[in-house]
Order: sequence, then structure tokens, then C-alpha cells
Amino acid sequence: MRYHEIFESESSDTLKLPNLKIGDEILAGKFKNRKATIKGFSKDDHNQPVLKTNKGDQKLFKPRIVKLMAESESHIDSTLLQDVDMSSYESFNKSLSKIPREQLMQLSGVLDQMREKIRKPHAGYIELYHGAPQKHAEDIRKNGFKITKGKRSGGITGLEYEEEVDNQGIFLTDSKPMAQFFGSNRSDYENDWKMFTCYVDSTKIVSSDNMALDIKRVGLRLINDYNGSKLKSIADRDWFWLLDQTEIVNMIKNKGYTGVQFREGAATKRLAGVKDGHTYLIFDPASIQIKERDGMTIKDFYEWLARQ
Ligand SMILES: NC(=O)c1ccc[n+]([C@@H]2O[C@H](COP(=O)([O-])OP(=O)(O)OC[C@H]3O[C@@H](n4cnc5c(N)ncnc54)[C@H](O)[C@@H]3O)[C@@H](O)[C@H]2O)c1
Repeated sequence: MRYHEIFESESSDTLKLPNLKIGDEILAGKFKNRKATIKGFSKDDHNQPVLKTNKGDQKLFKPRIVKLMAESESHIDSTLLQDVDMSSYESFNKSLSKIPREQLMQLSGVLDQMREKIRKPHAGYIELYHGAPQKHAEDIRKNGFKITKGKRSGGITGLEYEEEVDNQGIFLTDSKPMAQFFGSNRSDYENDWKMFTCYVDSTKIVSSDNMALDIKRVGLRLINDYNGSKLKSIADRDWFWLLDQTEIVNMIKNKGYTGVQFREGAATKRLAGVKDGHTYLIFDPASIQIKERDGMTIKDFYEWLARQ
């Protein structure tokens, strides 16, 4: 089969690719001999086409097509770097003060675009908050979240007992006052806390309202065994306790979920002074983007320019 029979071209300067539709077959895998059927289409982080198939995702193109990439990701116009000394970060910084104002404005425009892109969550991402005591904030800002031991207090007054638990993920909330409440709760004194704004992929988070029956059944058994009760349904306030239990968290993970969302109990909402609010437990700390941390400094910008 000749080239022009495969790709219908308007002229030899343009390559037209065949139309692909759901149900079409492709051959994928290392030796390209595994048949897969197209189930849908999406894009990767570089805005390149991806085929969704019954055997997993397949990038359509081997090279990246620059004109498909977001503007801030594509190669920078080399005239913008004329007279800029790229030999080190220090010399780069110094040379910025010597280049013409117009050129500086254009460079800073590129930086703004990149910052905006980083700040903007991807499709399917939601904005959530985490309140942390100041003594942990610096570590979180530097290294991102990590799973640590957690403290839980409870009883009728909320102060009757305090115990240590193995956290199964990182807790976040969609309510700023709630993050403030939890942050100050863990601090040594009032106002000694920090709130982080985070972006999280919401596409594989399960709500406690939609929890599968087998998980709910195990949840109820755990609660009833622990309390010696005979409850028939799980209350909102029970989820925070359940999500400290490895047995139930492993069941949820095994179903392919990356986290759980549940409504905060009435008592916590009252204490935090909010009418509504959800808590999210996100299993993988590395999957949480922190706005304050994952921004772009001038040094990051220099390193990006140097790679172009
Ligand atoms: N903190 C929140 O914003 C928040 C949000 C929703 C619900 N909650 C509720 O609060 C209770 C306690 O959760 P918690 O997470 O506040 O505290 P926790 O007692 O479970 O302790 C974990 C602590 O580790 C900290 N941490 C995370 N990454 C760290 C790192 N890299 N270095 C140092 N420290 C790090 C967290 O900020 C947190 O203070 C849970 O039962 C949960 O339901 C808290």
C-alpha cells in the first residue's frame, strides 16, 4: 500500500491522519502485536492525543507535536534570550537588569503564563484545604505531604481521651473554616497554624454515600465490634473513625479509588462554625498538588529556560 493510499493528503505539504473512532482496532504493546479496541480519546499532560483502549491508554504519537502543546510549554522564541547570560542562575539574574525593557516584559509574560498554568488545576481537579500546625508547615511546604501517625481525641466532651493512630492518607476539606479548625486544633497555641490550598484529582474519589455494599457491611461490623453496638447504618460521624482502619481502607483501594469523601458530623461542624463541609481522605500524599509549593520561582524559570 502506498503512502498516499493510507493518508489522504490535500498536498504533499500536509499530512492528514485517518479518522479514528470508538470500536476501531489497534495493535499495541512492545512488539505491537496485542490487539486492543478503542474505547475513547483523551490527552496527556503535554496535550498530546491518547487512545483509551480495553488494554489501557496508548499515546497516539511517538514524538510530541509542538503545536499541540500549551503555549507556555512550547519552545521559547530564541530572540527573547538575546543578551541574556545563561551561564549560571546568578549571571542570568544580573543580565536581566541590562536587557531592553520590552524584552524583559516579554520574558516576564512567559513566566506569568507558566505560573498561571501551574496554578490552574487540570480538568477533573478540585480545590481542597489542609490546616497544619506551624511546626509541620515548613516540612510540608518543602517536601510535600507524608503519612505520619495521627492523634484522635474523643468522648462526649471531645477531650476525654486521646489516642495515636496510623494515618491511612492525608485529610483535606472543602471548607476553609474547617481547615482552620483542624489546623488550630493540632497547634500548641491559637493562630499557630497554616492553611494549604491543594489540588486533587477528583475522578476516582468515592463518596461515603455511594460506598459499595460489601464495604458498608465490613464498616458496620467494625463499628459494632468496637462499640458493642447493633447499628444498622453508618452515620456521617463514624467515617473519620472507619478511615483509620486498614481493613476498610484496603478494600476501598482495591476497588481502584484514590480517596474517600464524607460529610463531617454535626458536632464537628458546630465546633468549626460551619453549616456544611466534607472531609476527604487522599491515600497517596504525592498525588496532592500544593499551590504554595508547586508554584514557579525565578530559579525554576531559569532552569526551564536553560533546558530549552
Ligand atoms: N487538617 C485538616 O485540614 C483536616 C481536614 C479534614 C479533616 N480533618 C480531621 O482531623 C483529624 C486529624 O487529621 P490531621 O491530618 O489534621 O492530623 P493528624 O493528627 O492525623 O496528624 C497528621 C499530621 O501530619 C502532618 N503532616 C503531613 N505531612 C507532613 C510532613 N511532610 N511533615 C510533617 N508533618 C506532616 C499533618 O499536617 C497533620 O498535622 C482527622 O480525624 C480528620 O478527620 C483534618
